[in-house]
Amino acid sequence: KFEGLAETPPLGWNSWNTFATDINEQLVKDIADKFVELGLKEAGYEYIVLDDGWMAKERDTHGNLIADPIKFPSGMKALADYIHSKGLKFGLYNCAGSKTCAGYPGSRGFEYQDARSYASWDVDYLKYDWCNTDKLNAEGAYITMRDALKAAGRPVVFSICEWGDNEPWKWAKDVGHAWRVTGDIINCWDCEVGHGSWSSWGVWKIINMRKDIRKVAGPGHWNDFDMMEVGNGMADAEDRTHFAMWTMLTSPLIMGNDLRVASKETIKTLANKEVIAVNQDKLGIQGFRFSNEGDFEIWIKPLENDAWAITFVNMSDKPLSLNFDWEKHDIGDDVNGKRMEAKQQKFKIRDLFNHKNLGDTSKNLMAEIQSHDVLMVKLEKK
Ligand code: GLA
Repeated sequence: KFEGLAETPPLGWNSWNTFATDINEQLVKDIADKFVELGLKEAGYEYIVLDDGWMAKERDTHGNLIADPIKFPSGMKALADYIHSKGLKFGLYNCAGSKTCAGYPGSRGFEYQDARSYASWDVDYLKYDWCNTDKLNAEGAYITMRDALKAAGRPVVFSICEWGDNEPWKWAKDVGHAWRVTGDIINCWDCEVGHGSWSSWGVWKIINMRKDIRKVAGPGHWNDFDMMEVGNGMADAEDRTHFAMWTMLTSPLIMGNDLRVASKETIKTLANKEVIAVNQDKLGIQGFRFSNEGDFEIWIKPLENDAWAITFVNMSDKPLSLNFDWEKHDIGDDVNGKRMEAKQQKFKIRDLFNHKNLGDTSKNLMAEIQSHDVLMVKLEKK
């Protein structure tokens, strides 16, 4: 794969969660405009990715992929140029199988040709799905596309989307820059919709399914907890928690909402630079569940400069008072065989959602946390 890309988790927007295949040129341009206007570019987001549905239903007579001529009359190169003119990067979707999940032409047997098309359109990011793959071997199929992209020569972030079925965390480190760890997300706190392998998963279902694979994530190769549902119908508190958790988990942060109609509160959450900084921390260490204490979940993530991010989640349906005694908790983590410890040190405490200093760790941390909301703090050395 292309080395040196996605050294921190990719930040961007993808069309699928809100628009499915109902996408078009004007919509994508409007989203790109909003992206900049709303300060999301400034906050660090970079990629605009078209998911399934951008192609014509058939390849041309030479076997080339073509953009749907009605939805994208100016073609993909023109759209890429527009997105690049805004200082952003451009991504597309395809699939390892004979057809994409929504029935458009897949890349199977056309990998090198498709990679050359992407390069000729200046594509910077490819999401590569796993429908209609029959008996294909997943590792092999993703390696073929990786090699095709490499041969085409234009650096591309390669985002693997086979839903965790073939345990990509065991083989994809040198194949892609991120890999999906579950089936598709849906906009709810902890639900499962559908059944079996066709289920869609709420935020906490996804987290709990894949909490044990954190050690494989790192710079250039991330566990992808799926595109975000922030702004897609959950309560603002739940959106904050969802965002905080994706940040703690070093997941790619790919927005999935309609930026044209996003509320102030949604943008406040998504564009929060102090929270994003935790996700983008240079060490790239995925956070972990430190403890469950009553209705609080406590998550920890080591950060550079001996700092720590700690996220307290109120899992209950009532407001709760937090009273956290630092003396009684050994904040620490084993990193590459070395123990990192926060113990015995005094830290300043920064509230990352509210941009406030909360004193230091010489006293208990006290806070009221609303139902399904978070207190996300950074401990910094004094
Ligand atoms: C799969 C993927 C989704 C989306 C759709 C498109 O379900 O997991 O993220 O790309 O296909 O059809």
